[in-house]
Amino acid sequence: MLDPATHVIGKCGGPDAVAEMVGIHVSNVHRWTYPRARGGTDGRIPARHHARLIAEAARRGITLVPEDFFHGTEAAAALSSAPRKREPASQMTQPADPTRFRHRHLLGIEGLSSDEIAYLLDRANGFVDMSRSRRKADLLSGLSVMNLFFEDSTRTRTSFELAALRLGADVINMSVATSSIQKGESLIDTALTLNAMHPDVLVVRHPHSGAVELLSQKVTCSVINAGDGSHEHPTQALLDALTIRRRKGRIGGLIVAICGDVAHSRVARSNIHLLTTMGARVRVVGPPTLVPRSMARMGVEIFHDMRQGLKDCDIVMMLRLQLERMHGTYVPSLRENFHFYGLDYDKLANAKPDALIMHPGPINRGVEIDTAVADDVERSVITEQVEMGVAVRMACLEAVTANLPWMDARSRA
Ligand code: NCD
Repeated sequence: MLDPATHVIGKCGGPDAVAEMVGIHVSNVHRWTYPRARGGTDGRIPARHHARLIAEAARRGITLVPEDFFHGTEAAAALSSAPRKREPASQMTQPADPTRFRHRHLLGIEGLSSDEIAYLLDRANGFVDMSRSRRKADLLSGLSVMNLFFEDSTRTRTSFELAALRLGADVINMSVATSSIQKGESLIDTALTLNAMHPDVLVVRHPHSGAVELLSQKVTCSVINAGDGSHEHPTQALLDALTIRRRKGRIGGLIVAICGDVAHSRVARSNIHLLTTMGARVRVVGPPTLVPRSMARMGVEIFHDMRQGLKDCDIVMMLRLQLERMHGTYVPSLRENFHFYGLDYDKLANAKPDALIMHPGPINRGVEIDTAVADDVERSVITEQVEMGVAVRMACLEAVTANLPWMDARSRA
């Protein structure tokens, strides 16, 4: 069986064509097929060229997919035997152009273009099968990822860890509870201390909005925001978008109702930025205390009546009451909140018959969502969201590290 480099070079029309597509000298393309002992890369194409090659190939009418870069390897064998679920043609033909994601950090969705979002979703979609087959790729081998969570997490922290491991990176989980932060060390001092150990990526969750961006200004590595206060949670919005796109075939034109504690939710904020950028119609639904009028500035429609808010929508996205961020009383009682704003079959009947039910987790059953609705295998995609989280975080880790200055030298080696 051919090695991945020879396979891709053949598909693209030879070394000269590939050199032109990637913008490097042809001798470097030849080196991809040489063994390491001869200064080559052992039949592998350096990760930073993958997205560019896919985009250039698409422009020339050649279909290259992420799996081609593992052709002939164990990972490819696993991928070809795994059940495949393809994106509709219209989504897959969108160019995945790496020049459209040039950021070293991923701090939020706000400010990203629809091209950048589509690029991350396309790459993530290519990683879904690899993740399903439980195989590793060495796209980030030699890199170290540090998880730094100042707030509790189940899904986000473990999926970042799995994503990094599946790409061959080393992962360290810093336990804030047993660190010097408990001795009064400031966020900035902690950042400088960790930076001195030369990690490649810091994945940071913090209770204060803006804290992750502040930290990113003090370090030389990449920083990914895993949720900062009630500000942004970009990877959650991306995994929600991937779930929607795979189920509905598109995002543009869909009606999405985000319901519950919108005011305190970083998930809602990131989703509003992403969904409106990708052309969806977003409604926010909840009591006036949790869905303030000022949210209209974000380009959403506001509903305080849940039945009206759900009318004919394609997606119902439920949110947890963020009690830890509430200073005062925002809901009369949990029982009353469920009566008016909890998702049950009665209220769901107002949505389209094939509307999907989503929730970022953790779920509070009987508070914002009825147990039977949350577990409805026909309608609820809550566990699928968790699954997409690993693939999306693989794509984000790959995308930000491709812009690290020292990755250039690494991929030339
Ligand atoms: C969310 C979070 O932490 O912002 N959860 C998650 O990341 N899956 C939502 C929440 O805590 O309610």
